[in-house]
Amino acid sequence: MLPSIPGYSGVTSFPQVTSGKLLLNNFYLCCTNSFKSFPFHIGGAGLTLFVVLRKNSIMSLKEALHWRSATKSFNGEKIEQEKLDQILEAIRLAPSSSGLQPYKVFVINSRAIREKLTPIAWGQPQILQASHILVFAAWDELSAERVDGFFTYSNQVRNLPQTTTDDYRLNLLSLLDKKSKEEQFIDASRQSYIALGFGLLAAAELKVDATPMEGFDNAALDELLDLKSHGLRSTVMMALGYRDHENDWWSKLDRVRWPHDELFIEL
Ligand SMILES: Cc1cc2nc3c(=O)[nH]c(=O)nc-3n(C[C@H](O)[C@H](O)[C@H](O)COP(=O)(O)O)c2cc1C
Repeated sequence: MLPSIPGYSGVTSFPQVTSGKLLLNNFYLCCTNSFKSFPFHIGGAGLTLFVVLRKNSIMSLKEALHWRSATKSFNGEKIEQEKLDQILEAIRLAPSSSGLQPYKVFVINSRAIREKLTPIAWGQPQILQASHILVFAAWDELSAERVDGFFTYSNQVRNLPQTTTDDYRLNLLSLLDKKSKEEQFIDASRQSYIALGFGLLAAAELKVDATPMEGFDNAALDELLDLKSHGLRSTVMMALGYRDHENDWWSKLDRVRWPHDELFIEL
């Protein structure tokens, strides 16, 4: 019988695996000299049948929450484009105050940029080891032009007259007008952290490792990416990739969280 292989599925009953096994990216390839019925197969020659077990790459939310950790050492492997796209889509779908999504996310693959980013992030090794670095950058102010731009777009998407949102929009603009430019940036930056959280969770569900990273020199990063010219300021980063099981000492430590009764105050 095929031994159970943690993290892989596809075959319930499998006689006599006799030779060969090959661990591919998401698949476990093995062969047998006798077969009955297999849900997955890619071909047979004589009595030898090759089967492919698909890696369980989607976890339940509960499993994902326990599995994830802020990876300190990545193995340099690139994440699949499909998974990256799913993580980015989760970030895109994150909620934000008034729906403004007052931020942009830079998806950095370029090694040259990551080399420049490493000293800015205090030499943290994840920057070069990771597959991709996401830089979250919030609007440097919630200007009327930007707010109006969002509501114009929103009404277009929903096929509604532009006047539909006038009351809400004008009320929001009068509230924002009372805030300094710095306070407006702080508001925007908070929203970017919600998007970060959505990205972290999406990555965990896909069994992609991710590190939220605030340990960097914001001004230097803003300069590197020329964020000022885009009206943006960096807030937080996320390194994405696969953990280096041997060297990722952090994932071997117990998770430390306040106990339930310490954290939650029931009224
Ligand atoms: C906003 C934020 C900034 C962080 N910055 C860094 C960082 O710069 N480098 C790093 O290795 N970990 C960073 N972390 C990871 C935390 O240290 C980690 O999430 C925390 O200790 C709990 O560990 P866990 O996420 O593995 O459960 C950051 C986490 C958050 C939420």
